Amino acid sequence: MNETALRVREKFLKLFKENPLIVRSPGRINLIGEHTDYNMGFVLPAAIDKSIYFALTPRDDNNCFLHAFDLNDSYQHQVSNIEYQEKRWANYLLGVIDQLKIFGYNISGFNCVFGGNIPIGAGLSSSAAIEAGLAFSLNHIFNLGIEKLELVKLSQKAENQFVGVNCGIMDQFINIFGKASKVIKIDCRSLDYTYYPFDNNNFKIVLVNTLIHHSLASSEYNSRRMQCESGVKILQNYFPNVKSLRDITSSSLNQVEAKFDKIIYNRCKYIVDEIERVNFACRDLINNDFLSFGKKMYETHFGLSKDYEVSCSELDYLVDQTVEKDYVFGARMMGGGFGGCTLNLVASDCINEFEKEIVYEYKKKYSLIPEIYVCEIANGTNIISDTSN
Ligand code: GLA
Repeated sequence: MNETALRVREKFLKLFKENPLIVRSPGRINLIGEHTDYNMGFVLPAAIDKSIYFALTPRDDNNCFLHAFDLNDSYQHQVSNIEYQEKRWANYLLGVIDQLKIFGYNISGFNCVFGGNIPIGAGLSSSAAIEAGLAFSLNHIFNLGIEKLELVKLSQKAENQFVGVNCGIMDQFINIFGKASKVIKIDCRSLDYTYYPFDNNNFKIVLVNTLIHHSLASSEYNSRRMQCESGVKILQNYFPNVKSLRDITSSSLNQVEAKFDKIIYNRCKYIVDEIERVNFACRDLINNDFLSFGKKMYETHFGLSKDYEVSCSELDYLVDQTVEKDYVFGARMMGGGFGGCTLNLVASDCINEFEKEIVYEYKKKYSLIPEIYVCEIANGTNIISDTSN
């Protein structure tokens, strides 16, 4: 057990004086396929070695005791009476309990301490790690027999219906299905998925945190989703079989450009191109062609910045700085946007040089020292110790 997990376990023992189940629930990166999940397209995420750890035991009564280790804050609630709370962090957990009840699963109270090292608001999906991690843990301690895909869906619903962000399925899916050294191509319509190896020794995945905190809940994410839906409505007038932006090619979209408001057209154009790009990027992986893969990451970034408009000046600046560095294969902003991290594929023997240069450049421009994380691709949510029974 690593140090973070041990600290969470220790806190649990101090608070509840019994041996807990310990579960690790990872953050995620997404190599390519951004904002395509809720358009029924493809994504290419991976789980990483930054995680949240849960320590849990069931209780005989109806109370759930929740303790957020990193905030040193506690919350107590009745399982039978779940309502949205002022304490924001509690809602990610209460939302899962709420969904378990809606899906018809019966649980009693429980004790829970959770904490970890996924930076919050950095676009690494700490919220899905909390939701899916708790759903997985409760499934285990109450022996609910819920299938993996069902865990994914109910965790996503917790975020949609309780937290209030109308996110797609990518983050919760990769959290549960992630595998070490592999990315997953997920078809977000059929939910079919394919693992691709992503463990080339020549480069490392390096995240640069702008330290600009994004807030997905802040209406922009939901508004992009609505703009895509209105694009689909326009398209249906000319192509009645179109159900989502997944169903249209870029040349068909081009043909009807004049029927669109400029902003809606740009949003649709980015999505249609990006869905295509994931398919081509997977071909690059099969061909082991990371130069070509990296080029697509830049294309994604420029689409997200110019057409989808979910970037910010700090993210754009960090990506621009890499263009001239020939030891960077590709770079782009990652996740919902408006802050968080850039994802960079950097030649393994130049990591120190990259770090030094990018910190210097960012500090000079924004008077802020960005955080740098060199990531490994790790397994999805798993049990790391079960001494609870
Ligand atoms: C957030 C959402 C995901 C996905 C990404 C953008 O992480 O939770 O469902 O839409 O943004 O690709």
